[in-house]
Amino acid sequence: MAYTYSLQAMKDLENEADIKQLVDTFYDHVNHDALLSPVFNEIAQVDWEHHLPVMYNFWSSVLFGTMAYKGQPFPKHLRLPVTGEHFDKWIALFKATVDALFSGKKAEEAKQKAQSIARIFQMKMGLLPYV
Ligand code: HEM
Repeated sequence: MAYTYSLQAMKDLENEADIKQLVDTFYDHVNHDALLSPVFNEIAQVDWEHHLPVMYNFWSSVLFGTMAYKGQPFPKHLRLPVTGEHFDKWIALFKATVDALFSGKKAEEAKQKAQSIARIFQMKMGLLPYV
């Protein structure tokens, strides 16, 4: 008997339910991370019931152009006591979360946009040189 092997390709990020899964999983990792969790939970004392829906809106605006997010992300980060190490960890966790769940054009775009926003934040905070 002939077998047809097909590798089950992981799906791409396609809709709001996918964004919710990405965001929920990512912040679950953040909350278990020894470096990042204290910044969110002890220093900023993030109200997760408020923050998670803001982040669904943010990513649906960035990836699908929904314009659901109306805020200004940078000022909320300006006074956080973070270093390049925190950003490196944030990006590593974000990329690992995307890769564990999705693959495709939007998944690549999510990682690339996160990386470029993280770079801009770090430049504005004086943690990276402007190049
Ligand atoms: C070291 C890395 C980071 C840390 C520790 C961090 C921490 C935080 C905290 C504590 C808040 C909640 C602020 C509040 O509601 O008072 C927040 C909000 C937010 N963060 Fe980050 N963040 C980091 C990186 C990023 C990056 C790279 C992005 C974008 C790709 C991002 C996007 C946002 C957005 C959109 C909000 C919501 C702002 C709003 O309420 O309108 N963050 N972040």
